[in-house]
Amino acid sequence: MNTNRWRLDGQTALITGASAGIGLAIARELLGFGADLLLVARDADALAQARDDLADEFPDRAIHGLSADVADDEDRQAILDWVEDHGGLNLLVNNAGGNITRPANDYSEDEWRGIFETNLFSAFELSRYAYPLLTRHAASAIVNVGSVSGITHVRSGVVYGMTKAALQQMTRNLACEWAEDGIRVNSVAPWYIRTRRTSGPLSDADYYDEVIARTPMRRIGEPEEVAAAVGFLCLPAASYVTGECIAVDGGFLRYGF
Ligand SMILES: NC(=O)c1ccc[n+]([C@@H]2O[C@H](COP(=O)([O-])OP(=O)(O)OC[C@H]3O[C@@H](n4cnc5c(N)ncnc54)[C@H](OP(=O)(O)O)[C@@H]3O)[C@@H](O)[C@H]2O)c1
Repeated sequence: MNTNRWRLDGQTALITGASAGIGLAIARELLGFGADLLLVARDADALAQARDDLADEFPDRAIHGLSADVADDEDRQAILDWVEDHGGLNLLVNNAGGNITRPANDYSEDEWRGIFETNLFSAFELSRYAYPLLTRHAASAIVNVGSVSGITHVRSGVVYGMTKAALQQMTRNLACEWAEDGIRVNSVAPWYIRTRRTSGPLSDADYYDEVIARTPMRRIGEPEEVAAAVGFLCLPAASYVTGECIAVDGGFLRYGF
């Protein structure tokens, strides 16, 4: 029994989208707290590279990777079979996400349905598949990586906002439904974070200036700053926190005029 409320020793976390950006930072954060990791992303080479780098930094931890697409239901089931083969999990971090930004009328059906599969249905199904494994423990946790776009309009395109809003409500509902099973369910809502996804738009100096002008802290966030919030929500220290969303946004959501 881990008696240190600020440690995750002996706990195993499944992190989706763990080969880059926010997911990779979450992996590093949870390793720092003592967790063992099961990492998922599609590109096998990038995932193996990330796993090897993390194993060099944290040689005492068990770190495994599986190349899989969370948008694909057969892959989702394969992920949970693989998790079970590795002894189950205490923590699930639904981080994998993607987007295509277009005016609402320009999305093809395949495009918008695909964004829902990647950002929302993946998290719902992985949570349900993980449920019997999570309930093996007296206390376990799910953290969903949402976005400020699920709370207010940003220029992401309507579909991304829809998926992230639904992810927030899924978080609240599952938190209430699964509280009696010892599963806490929380989320984070980042604003602009420096990752490969945002490097394109932020390289436009005028756009960057607009983003900064709307951010009270006057800077872009770092993946480690999201990972810190996710880490807190995973820890026993957050044992009475469920159904909550932590914005990691430099004050963006609180900024009117
Ligand atoms: N960066 C931001 O400013 C920001 C702001 C708010 C919210 N978010 C959210 O934060 C999460 C991570 O974003 P990020 O900026 O860190 O992205 P990123 O740097 O592009 O990394 C995305 C990670 O997810 C994996 N991934 C993507 N689609 C996947 C799929 N279908 N199945 C399995 N793995 C998949 C990628 O690897 P493969 O491509 O190899 O699969 C990669 O490991 C997303 O949910 C995003 O919506 C980001």
